[in-house]
Amino acid sequence: PKDDPTLLFSGAGMNQFKDQFLGRNVTYKRATTSQKCLRTGDLDNVGKTSGHHTFFEMLGNFSFGDYFKKEAIAWAWEFFTTVLKIPQELLWVSVYKDDDEAYDIWKDVIKIDPKRIVRLGEKDNFWPSEAPSKGPNGPCGPCSEIFYDYGVNLGCGKPGCSPACDCKRFVEVWNLVFTQFDRQSDGSLKPLPNKNIDTGMGLERIASVIQGVKTNFETDIFKPITSEIRKAAKTAGPDKVLTSKINAIADHIRAVTFCISDGVMPSNEERGYVVRKLIRRAMSHCQ
Ligand code: ALA
Repeated sequence: PKDDPTLLFSGAGMNQFKDQFLGRNVTYKRATTSQKCLRTGDLDNVGKTSGHHTFFEMLGNFSFGDYFKKEAIAWAWEFFTTVLKIPQELLWVSVYKDDDEAYDIWKDVIKIDPKRIVRLGEKDNFWPSEAPSKGPNGPCGPCSEIFYDYGVNLGCGKPGCSPACDCKRFVEVWNLVFTQFDRQSDGSLKPLPNKNIDTGMGLERIASVIQGVKTNFETDIFKPITSEIRKAAKTAGPDKVLTSKINAIADHIRAVTFCISDGVMPSNEERGYVVRKLIRRAMSHCQ
């Protein structure tokens, strides 16, 4: 990230817009981005789940004191249902437990069946996650997430299975954050000068939905990489190579390639150390 010593990597689409959210330097009021992101928080899950990555591309639209909840929700719905033509009944949404305004927009304006709206706590529906109780300080707010339903067959089968479940039935595809607070060191949530919007949709996840595959690793983004790894693994000997290892290697190779092409070389410190660690982890999966 440029001019931000608090971050080693951009982990979200909004990182470069902190000043605009704080009401400084607002020379434009709307933006849309495709942001290269790197997160190491999910490292242990990468390859094992359908949709966790170290490197991914996040698509986003942003408002700096311009449009807010009603428009952001309506436009997200329009994009999914009329542009991408995802059947409405396969989309579920979550809202922050106290956010009646977002709940009512989904129910009364969008007219989504209330059975497919769930209210969740600050871990799932506040961004950054758990910011009110744990921080970090700075711009934050309640969020509303849109989930794609892969069908009951992939679910846990329990009554009441919903996006609140950890089973594989639902994948979160778009996070709409209503960035309206500036968390202070004493834990208080000070209203920002303006109400803002920050959204994030993982390109790899939405690609898996649109391409009708069950994991991001089966999309055309990853297929060429995983098939080369599979070929190389066969040449090297083992009869059976774990798909989870192939997926993790593919993820790490992609992350490292993007880092190096952006000028972050493997080294013993800071960003470079993360790149080195990813290379070492990829190699350890080869054994
Ligand atoms: N900043 C939000 C996220 O990363 C959109 O999920």
